[in-house]
Amino acid sequence: MKRVIVAVAIISMLLTSCKTEQKFLNDDGVIKIGFIPETMTVERWQRDREIFVAKAKELGAEEVLVKNAYEDTELQKEIAKDMVDAGVDVLVIIAYDKDALTDIVEYAHQNNVKVIAYDRLIRNANVDLYISFDNYRVGELMGQAAYAAVPQGKYLFLNGPETDNNVYMIRDGYLSIIQPAIDSGDIVVMGETYISAWRDEVSYEYMSDKIGEFDFDVIIAGNDRVAEGAINALSENRMSGDIFVTGQDAEIAACQRIVEGTQGMTVYKPIDVLAEGAAECAVKLALGEDIGPCSKISDGKYMVDYIAYEPISVNADNMLDTIIKDGFYTIEQVYANVPKDQWPTEKK
Ligand code: GAL
Repeated sequence: MKRVIVAVAIISMLLTSCKTEQKFLNDDGVIKIGFIPETMTVERWQRDREIFVAKAKELGAEEVLVKNAYEDTELQKEIAKDMVDAGVDVLVIIAYDKDALTDIVEYAHQNNVKVIAYDRLIRNANVDLYISFDNYRVGELMGQAAYAAVPQGKYLFLNGPETDNNVYMIRDGYLSIIQPAIDSGDIVVMGETYISAWRDEVSYEYMSDKIGEFDFDVIIAGNDRVAEGAINALSENRMSGDIFVTGQDAEIAACQRIVEGTQGMTVYKPIDVLAEGAAECAVKLALGEDIGPCSKISDGKYMVDYIAYEPISVNADNMLDTIIKDGFYTIEQVYANVPKDQWPTEKK
């Protein structure tokens, strides 16, 4: 078994038992689960899917239907409806648009199908469970790393898309760390945007326009894709390495950039913890069993059951002791572009 170094910390406030009053297993006697990612172009979702499907099957799910929504709200709704009609017991959704799925969750509930919001909260919909890494904490880790590197300087905020609820939780998290320095004038916010998609092309375009308009010392980039586009624009202008850039997801390219010095940090979220946790909950919900301790979070209208796992801040100094020690990537993968005599050999 992998040595996952993270303690699987469940947010402690209001720990209660998640309620499952009713047995939702559809009449056919088999457990059938639907999994609907918003896209498959993001590296991590492939890992999420593989681990989720394997674990759900290991736990007794007869069938796990997987369908990609290709970043399309209408398609995601259509797929969800089709899966309900096909008799799934539980729908597991990585929401493309946090605000667009209320009706489909209602439709699922009318048909005795439970809904899990996977990684991203679905708003105003009363899902049966929201399970994710703690996104507020993700933002705090970004803010802490940036502030430690540049306690006084010019910051740019490159947030993810407005359709993703995580983006706001992350923003609240990093602001909680740096707002006092903004108020005192130590940190000056030069600009802020919500890019239209979690894609490097989009952040590349935005950054290419901004470079030259003003200078900055830190880019709080919402995830590694966003960081990648920004860093590509910086390196075309011979600025990469001079600016502290945050990220999230521990994509392989980001880990490489970190050890090469062009990205300051990423937030590592051991995907197996989330995917396996979600699979366990999905099977339990299908069987009408209690899913154990949960906290609660507001979805805008309802307080919903919430399980949140602890993310981990990763930089060049702890790469070996986190990502590599965990087996998320090998040292050969992460240090592929670094001369071997500069590879770390022991705990720093
Ligand atoms: C966010 C998530 C990130 C990243 C991103 C890309 O919602 O928090 O971990 O995966 O989506 O789709």
